[in-house]
Amino acid sequence: MIYSKIAGTGRYLPEKILTNADLEKLVDTTDEWIRTRTGVERRHVASEDQTTSDLCVEAAKKAMESANVTADDIDLIIVGTTSPDLIFPNIATIIQDRMGIHGCPAFSIEAACTGFIYALSTADKFVRAGEAKCALIIGAEIITKLIDWSDRSTCVLFGDGAGAVIVQPSDEPGIISTHLGADGQYRDLLYYPVGASKDLAKAGLGDSRIIMKGNEVFKVAVRTLGNVAEQALKANNIDKDDLDWLVPHQANLRIIQATAKRLKLPMDKVIQTVQDHGNTSAASVPMALDVAVRDGRIQRGHLILLEAFGGGFTWGSVLMRY
Ligand code: UT7
Repeated sequence: MIYSKIAGTGRYLPEKILTNADLEKLVDTTDEWIRTRTGVERRHVASEDQTTSDLCVEAAKKAMESANVTADDIDLIIVGTTSPDLIFPNIATIIQDRMGIHGCPAFSIEAACTGFIYALSTADKFVRAGEAKCALIIGAEIITKLIDWSDRSTCVLFGDGAGAVIVQPSDEPGIISTHLGADGQYRDLLYYPVGASKDLAKAGLGDSRIIMKGNEVFKVAVRTLGNVAEQALKANNIDKDDLDWLVPHQANLRIIQATAKRLKLPMDKVIQTVQDHGNTSAASVPMALDVAVRDGRIQRGHLILLEAFGGGFTWGSVLMRY
């Protein structure tokens, strides 16, 4: 039986940091409100000329270095993102070209904040089917270019970044299970109103912005992330006490705390980066994973649950031994 396993991780954050104090000068908000309602203290913001593939290439280099693989080894690229450089060609092909990788399948998955979990789950299937031996999987966003910087209800929440992993075959898990889900009836609670076939011509450049009914999203996020975690543990007959780490989507500290409470998991088993990164959508889980791998908290053999929730709504989990 072939399993898939994460062989290395990497992340890249744009240099520019925007603090809550900086935002106090932009909109009618306070550091206190942002900290207590969201847990965010600062976020990285891409420069005007940076593209999402710029962040991806840097994160990918670090993941490849940590897995000790080169461009010649990569035989599959999947990128989870909602903010690709262009409508087409897909961002994975742009990264492929920039990294000197040729010929392998390269595609992107759009599942909002769950994009990386969808991408990793897809890679797991490729590897277990024997169709990929060295997959480069990335979650990345420059979501700050989709934000209305005069809307205090959204502009304080988000940040930019990219997280990458290398996935390879293994005789033992590795990835134990993946669970994905979606329910489009909630699509109006969190969306971007312009796309290739809808209102693109009508929209002036930069006129559009993310639309979110935050409070309603919050409630479904808390319920769904708890369900997702319980589903993964139950399906594998694993007790929550056996989990070494929960790596949840980093949208809001209160959502993370509610999920931990529901699982009766102490917060010192939960990786938290929302204070430093803000909500980076599809980049949040792989970046949080990389932070904890590099600072030594996550060790080889640890049992880890990754989970995410985002616009659509979409959701998903990956249970794995690192
Ligand atoms: O990643 C994908 C999924 N996304 C999420 O999971 C996000 C989920 N939602 C949330 O995290 C929270 O709902 C928010 C952080 C977005 C908002 O927190 P909330 O506790 O739900 O606040 P609210 O929207 O109910 O607003 C409470 C008050 C309102 O004022 P009134 O009507 O009570 O007078 C808002 O106008 O807070 C006000 N407010 C702000 N005040 C200061 C909203 N944004 C701000 C702000 N600064 N930045």
